[in-house]
Amino acid sequence: MERTLSIIKPDGVKRGLIGEVVKRFEAAGIKIAAMKMLHLSKEQARAFYAVHKERPFYESLTDFMSSGPIVVMVLEAENVIRKNRDLMGATNYKDAAPGTIRRDFASDIEKNVVHGSDAPETASTEIAFFFNSLEICG
Ligand code: CDP
Ligand code: MG
Repeated sequence: MERTLSIIKPDGVKRGLIGEVVKRFEAAGIKIAAMKMLHLSKEQARAFYAVHKERPFYESLTDFMSSGPIVVMVLEAENVIRKNRDLMGATNYKDAAPGTIRRDFASDIEKNVVHGSDAPETASTEIAFFFNSLEICG
């Protein structure tokens, strides 16, 4: 069984899309192994997205990610990193396939509703950023 980190970003929470996103995960046979809502500070958002610190969108992205509550989840299933990325769709909603979360709900390359880890190493780092082992139901 593989695990990945999913985030419903501030735009998704504000727009009432928590249920919609969770419904898609469950319908795809993905187990929610942990879930909580929290509001990142600017510094915490900077730390989470440190990998992007040289990119031109870093300041704006971390302002956005600290602009309101988010829902963070540990997803569990076989091949769940890929499955979640497929459900999310491409980073830019304009390139995302029909029926994906980003294509259906995003309207901005930055405010694209969801985050998902992109590889096993980033999944473990990102899960550990938000959850300790007692908070994950295996
Ligand atoms: O989230 P994903 O892994 O698909 O994309 P990323 O390349 O890791 O970028 C992280 C996040 O930065 C994206 O989800 C967007 O919110 C934001 N971003 C942006 O605002 N402008 C870009 N040109 C690329 C990414
Ligand atoms: Mg990424």
